[in-house]
Amino acid sequence: MKTQCIRITAFGGPEVLQFGEVDVSEPGAGEVLVRHTGIGVNFVDIYHRTGQLHGDAPQPPFIPGVQANGVVEAVGPGVRDLRAGDRVTYANVGLGSYVAHRLLPAERLIRIPDTLSDDLVAASYLRGLTCHYLLKRLYRVQAGDTILVHAAAGGVGQLLVQWAKRLGAIVIGTVGSDAKAEFVTRLGCDHAINYRRQNFIEEVMRITGREGVPVVYDSVGADTFMGSLECLSPMGLAVNYGTASGQVPAFPLQLLHSKSLSVCRPTLRTYIARRADLETSSREFFDLLAQGGLHIDIAEKLPLANAADAHALLEGRTLSGALLLEP
Ligand SMILES: NC(=O)c1ccc[n+]([C@@H]2O[C@H](COP(=O)([O-])OP(=O)(O)OC[C@H]3O[C@@H](n4cnc5c(N)ncnc54)[C@H](OP(=O)(O)O)[C@@H]3O)[C@@H](O)[C@H]2O)c1
Repeated sequence: MKTQCIRITAFGGPEVLQFGEVDVSEPGAGEVLVRHTGIGVNFVDIYHRTGQLHGDAPQPPFIPGVQANGVVEAVGPGVRDLRAGDRVTYANVGLGSYVAHRLLPAERLIRIPDTLSDDLVAASYLRGLTCHYLLKRLYRVQAGDTILVHAAAGGVGQLLVQWAKRLGAIVIGTVGSDAKAEFVTRLGCDHAINYRRQNFIEEVMRITGREGVPVVYDSVGADTFMGSLECLSPMGLAVNYGTASGQVPAFPLQLLHSKSLSVCRPTLRTYIARRADLETSSREFFDLLAQGGLHIDIAEKLPLANAADAHALLEGRTLSGALLLEP
């Protein structure tokens, strides 16, 4: 059968996202046919659209998107744990979620608990799993830690702020406007810094009494990372988990020596590659959502055909809520 899709026809601006159709076949062994109900728009979709070197991103034309929710329509031979009508979600199963129907491996799907709405999960699943590994596995945030979160008002950033507060951390967040500073303060951020008009290194040093912080979560990359290193306390860890302003330039490893610093460039994919890890992090994130422990706004739910508008909005840096596409 044919289904609706968005294709990236060439690397470039939002206009290269073209609406069309693609063939979908019946599910084979271990596969499930899912009708998407909500497709998450994530910043990584912009890296793929612009051709920023990222993982195993293909050459155009290709269908972008790394995350969606939907309803199971049919299951292939050997699929035992899922049946038609189940509500499911997934993240990082290769590119191709900007479609109305998709064939997916059953082993990468997670059932959405009855207590959670489709939209809430579509707006937060990939970002929630990301926060889970950043705060609980890569570096285990402890009560009383003072941590630095860049782009704190962004999709991942605002979840990091809220989850870290629940873990008892003191959170310093950087943001790109005074309105965003007010927003993250309402979310619980203890110190908000507008890095477009304030020197975030000086501010972090002032706030921490010149001690620095044990961990920096940096998703901005080029514009911030070298400064992030300066914000660390001895033996601190700088996590570059995104490159919204461009990739971090090469730097001499020797820079880390005087304070015994560590640097990490992680990806969610490795943290959920094993089914057991995918299940554990999904369960812990869903439990927190079900308890009402995280405030999540949906800024807009746009038709799939309007994916270009969604990309322009995300790149415009004015949003404080998530963007969804609806086939
Ligand atoms: N490695 C992983 O496992 C992983 C997984 C998921 C997401 N990520 C990364 O996490 C980050 C957040 O993803 P998201 O989908 O939630 O996006 P987002 O945070 O909602 O949007 C990116 C934010 O980056 C900030 N920014 C700074 N410089 C920018 C620039 N030159 N252009 C555009 N934005 C800029 C903006 O906030 P201000 O205006 O406040 O500066 C913007 O809101 C992304 O870098 C993404 O690649 C990584």
